[in-house]
Amino acid sequence: MFYLRQTFNRHLCRHLSIRFKSIKDTNVWTQSAKCFHLTECMNKTTLKNTSGKSQSSQDWLRRQMNDPYVKKARYNNYRARSVFKLMEMDNKYQILHPSMIVVECGAAPGSWTQYIVKQLKLDAENTYPTGAVIAIDMRAINPIAGAIIMDNMDFTKPLNQSKILHALNGKLVDVVVSDMAPNASGNRDYDSTAIHNLCYSVLQFSLTVLKPISGTFLTKIWAGNDTEKFIHHLNQFFNEVTHLRPDACRADSTESYIMGRYFKGIQT
Ligand SMILES: C[S@@+](CC[C@H](N)C(=O)[O-])C[C@H]1O[C@@H](n2cnc3c(N)ncnc32)[C@H](O)[C@@H]1O
Repeated sequence: MFYLRQTFNRHLCRHLSIRFKSIKDTNVWTQSAKCFHLTECMNKTTLKNTSGKSQSSQDWLRRQMNDPYVKKARYNNYRARSVFKLMEMDNKYQILHPSMIVVECGAAPGSWTQYIVKQLKLDAENTYPTGAVIAIDMRAINPIAGAIIMDNMDFTKPLNQSKILHALNGKLVDVVVSDMAPNASGNRDYDSTAIHNLCYSVLQFSLTVLKPISGTFLTKIWAGNDTEKFIHHLNQFFNEVTHLRPDACRADSTESYIMGRYFKGIQT
């Protein structure tokens, strides 16, 4: 049995090498796939054929390949490691339940959506037909059974927000989550301001759609000069505001999440 498995592995590795050798246009992603498959066979995480790649690309690849959350995400068929951040926050605070209506901003490639669909039980035989998740992103998102996908769409544009309202068809929302992140420029102050602008855009939208009393708001931020002010503003609209840093956030990242619970509603 052991001999058979060894022989199979050798054949598999040989097959993969031949198949990958035939890929002419090898960019970072195909190389990453190549290394991943080969190293899976050999249980070794080394980078091969990195000539021509910048040091930062090589560092990024090496970090991806050695990241336990990346491996866990692949193993569990999640599209990104970020799912473990939402999972951890949800396990701790029980944010997501069947029958809920959830708006998710910055959803690509879709790991949060996959998790939300599961928690809302939208993937099973539609046991809770009143629930829904609307997943929005500027980028394309491959379909996820049970989710309403609104991709190639900038959330901050008023026209696009009215499309979301149209999809909601007058229904109020239980949870608004945002994992949106701008393209990082490398300048911490600039990037932090950019993500805070996204947070305010989501907050403004949330105030018009969230269910009073029970509504929850959760957003990613990159810590900066505006963070305290943003928390102060959230306190005006939510009875409980919590600043969270899940374990899956990368050690060298200023990323964290701010959650507002028990929406106070808007007094008119
Ligand atoms: C960290 S990724 C989200 C990962 C996602 N939570 C997952 O688990 O797959 C951040 C996403 O925010 C999106 N984004 C940034 N600005 C946006 C905007 N103005 N409108 C819509 N999406 C935006 C980006 O396109 C990117 O896909």
